[in-house]
Amino acid sequence: MSTPLVIRDRNTMRNLILTNQTMGRRIGFVPTMGSLHAGHTSLVDRAMAECDDVVTSIFVNPSQFGPQEDFERYPRDFDADFNLLAQHDVRWIFAPDVHEMYPPGDSTRIEISGPAEPYEGQLRPGHFSGVATIVFRLLQSTPANTVYFGAKDWQQVLVVRQMVRDLGLDVEVMTCPIVRDKDGLALSSRNAYLSESERTRAQTIYAALQQAEENWCRGLAIDKIELKVRDMLSAREIRIDYADIVHDESLRKISEVSRNTPAIFLIACHVGSTRLIDNLLLPSQT
Ligand code: PAJ
Repeated sequence: MSTPLVIRDRNTMRNLILTNQTMGRRIGFVPTMGSLHAGHTSLVDRAMAECDDVVTSIFVNPSQFGPQEDFERYPRDFDADFNLLAQHDVRWIFAPDVHEMYPPGDSTRIEISGPAEPYEGQLRPGHFSGVATIVFRLLQSTPANTVYFGAKDWQQVLVVRQMVRDLGLDVEVMTCPIVRDKDGLALSSRNAYLSESERTRAQTIYAALQQAEENWCRGLAIDKIELKVRDMLSAREIRIDYADIVHDESLRKISEVSRNTPAIFLIACHVGSTRLIDNLLLPSQT
């Protein structure tokens, strides 16, 4: 347990990181929007294991929310986040306000094609531009050696990796496994929106993914595997945005003949008015 130092401005943050790196320390960075849970702290723990110091950012980024989305009501609890990060020995918390990250008159955005186009990119126009813009700016302020992301937001990881490659950013990107609740539901800050009965219905998402994995291993046809998942979700009145087996990097649909390529099952769906995403990497078949 240690008391993290809270930093609110970009220059102070950047100078602290650079000074510590000059002293030979490796810095790990975990960007978040707060409302922290064990999914977030798994990233922090991994960073702690691999680096000398860890910095976590807490910033609910307005530019990645659509006009009809939940920016206003997104859960915020700085004190709880601070205490959790203290328990996990985070050294610095970077918690800028909106004007620090988007100065008045700000008009610069990063646009990414390729992995940012399908799925979330299509359903949430501007979302990945907002994510890329803030991740780039956060990395400018916290020029860490390694930055940690969760596989829960699989497409986000692909988008960030694309940006890091294209812009030649000097940072290593690590992806960490999805942390789930005991009932299988992937931890998410948005789970707080679910009523008790919605929470029970939401368990079907992981159950459906597990069933898909079994069927995949049994060699069932891809469209049948997807159909069974859709049926399972629909039976619990879960509205589906997509439920597809795709190549894990190109995000293109996989055909029967290319089953031996690395595949992932991606789901986005609505339980009541709460939108949830989840995924499962499918074992390769040779
Ligand atoms: P946020 O949703 O707070 O998530 C921060 C990080 O925690 C992301 O890398 C996300 O994938 C990871 N994460 C969330 N739930 C997880 C779980 N159950 N298991 C493992 N990792 C999990 O993602 C964002 O914030 C924002 O888009 C951000 C990158 C901070 C840019 O604003």
